[in-house]
Amino acid sequence: MTHTTPNQTIATSSMADMPLEGLILPPLALYIHIPWCVRKCPYCDFNSHKAEPELPEAEYVDALIADLNEEVSSAAGRPLQSIFIGGGTPSLFSAAAIGRVLDAAQTLIGFAESIEITMEANPGTFEQEKFHGFRSVGVNRLSIGIQSFADEQLKKLGRIHGREEALNAVKMARIAGFDNINLDLMHGLPGQTPETAQADLQQAIDLDPEHISWYQLTIEPNTEFYSRPPTLPIEDALADIQELGEAQLAAAGYRQYEVSAYARQGAAAALGEETADRRSRHNLNYWRFGDYIGIGAGAHGKTTQTENQQLIRRRKTRLPAHYLESQRGFCASEGKISADDLPLEFMMNALRLCDGVPSELFTQRAGLPLSALEPQLSELRQRGLIEQKTEQLQTTDVGQRYLNEVLAQFM
Ligand SMILES: C[S@@+](CC[C@H](N)C(=O)[O-])C[C@H]1O[C@@H](n2cnc3c(N)ncnc32)[C@H](O)[C@@H]1O
Ligand code: SF4
Repeated sequence: MTHTTPNQTIATSSMADMPLEGLILPPLALYIHIPWCVRKCPYCDFNSHKAEPELPEAEYVDALIADLNEEVSSAAGRPLQSIFIGGGTPSLFSAAAIGRVLDAAQTLIGFAESIEITMEANPGTFEQEKFHGFRSVGVNRLSIGIQSFADEQLKKLGRIHGREEALNAVKMARIAGFDNINLDLMHGLPGQTPETAQADLQQAIDLDPEHISWYQLTIEPNTEFYSRPPTLPIEDALADIQELGEAQLAAAGYRQYEVSAYARQGAAAALGEETADRRSRHNLNYWRFGDYIGIGAGAHGKTTQTENQQLIRRRKTRLPAHYLESQRGFCASEGKISADDLPLEFMMNALRLCDGVPSELFTQRAGLPLSALEPQLSELRQRGLIEQKTEQLQTTDVGQRYLNEVLAQFM
């Protein structure tokens, strides 16, 4: 199925010199990057590097804690609402090492009472043996990188696990006590048909995870797939896979709340509001333009300073070896986010959410008046790409499908 909309762009007047005003401290999250994997997958452009047989685990944890020490003032007294330990493959680390970082975060910054702590895990046998340990040091949400349940696909994707390990990983995670599990699955894979994609998705649904991240494979520059592209399904097949998969997830009780994110809806009355809402709180904070501190090689953060009405972006040294050499000064770049960049940055996050965000968040979190966007918003409303309601910034269904075109208006 294809849709077309006229491609028009309204010139955005420069806001570079506009002072930010009305910023309120948003919730705070922490991202921890672990940059190693057993081997590099041919489609992956994340900051992940093939691990040497001996990982410098203790040194890296020391560096993460020193990095966090340098970030304490950006927390501005707020406790952490969520932590995401991503990679790379964080499950290569021992539970004790992960525990040390979490303890430091609790001591240095502090945890909100119902903090969500997610860790990415690969479904290898070696990792599964550690699930119990991860749970016992405080990780309460596991995000398992399944990608596919088809052995043939997993091989093409260069994964180190097979179907049986993928199935077993979910079982082991439950046995270890995880009651909040995400499965990462990709579609639009080499040689995939709508039927095989549906079978893959059904297998994920049958395992009954609380959350499914269902990503369409993209071919990224600087990857092996970019230099030697595999044969991907044609456009029509991709559209069919998307449409059928969305319907399949909805029928199974998974509500789509973001471009690639689906959460199971529980009965709030029976489970309590928080347990019933299985959306990723950490990712929701990004999409709502909340604050986050990033520690680890290549991690970045965005924090609000209300005293001088500024938004600060900070990036850490990217290469693991260089990051490890830094005794202090892990920051590779730091600067104010320019008012000119804020409309696009805000919208790139907020409009990914199917329900959008309350309009007032634009001023509270980007420090600019909504009126600055009025020409673009009214044009997008006229074209049926943004909802008419003024209290919410939200795409229509068509706008969600053509998100890049919507975002082009804010460039
Ligand atoms: C940080 S990655 C990795 C997590 C973990 N290391 C793994 O691979 O199992 C998070 C997720 O992004 C998705 N992903 C990575 N590269 C992608 C690409 N080129 N296209 C679509 N999804 C991708 C995968 O589903 C992956 O699990
Ligand atoms: S997809 Fe995951 S396992 Fe593969 S290289 Fe990227 S981060 Fe590592």
